[in-house]
Amino acid sequence: RRVAILISGGGSNMVKLVESMTGDHPARPVLVLSNDPAASGLDRARALDVPVAAVDHRPFGRDRAAFETALLQPLLEASPDVVCLAGFMRVLTPAFVARFAGRMLNIHPSLLPAYPGLHTHQRALDAGDAQAGCTVHEVTADLDAGPVLGQARVPVLPGDTADSLAARVLVQEHRLYPAVLRRFAAGDRTPVLLG
Ligand code: GRF
Repeated sequence: RRVAILISGGGSNMVKLVESMTGDHPARPVLVLSNDPAASGLDRARALDVPVAAVDHRPFGRDRAAFETALLQPLLEASPDVVCLAGFMRVLTPAFVARFAGRMLNIHPSLLPAYPGLHTHQRALDAGDAQAGCTVHEVTADLDAGPVLGQARVPVLPGDTADSLAARVLVQEHRLYPAVLRRFAAGDRTPVLLG
């Protein structure tokens, strides 16, 4: 199985996904693609010998469709079987998502369906939640709302800030996403549920 990974920044989730695809793993990374040519994750991908590409979204302004047409080129050239969004911070149109229906995944830093969208950790703290976590889901036309493929939970601790909670959740993201991808690439969509 050929896996393309889309990033926007540091790509810590991408690194864990790439590092997991070794040995008898049914998938291999074929492209790391960013909407920011300066994303430090691109250098980390290069260091891992994964082909990289970048399509800067800024010149396209509000023309989302034009940006996505450009983004699609390197992606189609890599002919991935699975596309993983990993810290990818652009909203994709239903038309783009439809091209990868059933084979595009995303990791979101909340226990969906709670807290779709941004600032998830602060929202969990403001609500006084006892738990937080992350979700890997299939990407559908509706933002952060596709079928859940995995979740990992962490406790919210006294004195937590959005940053301390984000750091605790990120550790679980790095466990969850590789576990989900391995299962998904083998054709198994049974959700991965981590403590
Ligand atoms: C992280 O905060 C993660 O919760 C979300 O995107 C952010 C950056 O991830 N998925 P990464 O380090 O670029 O993978």
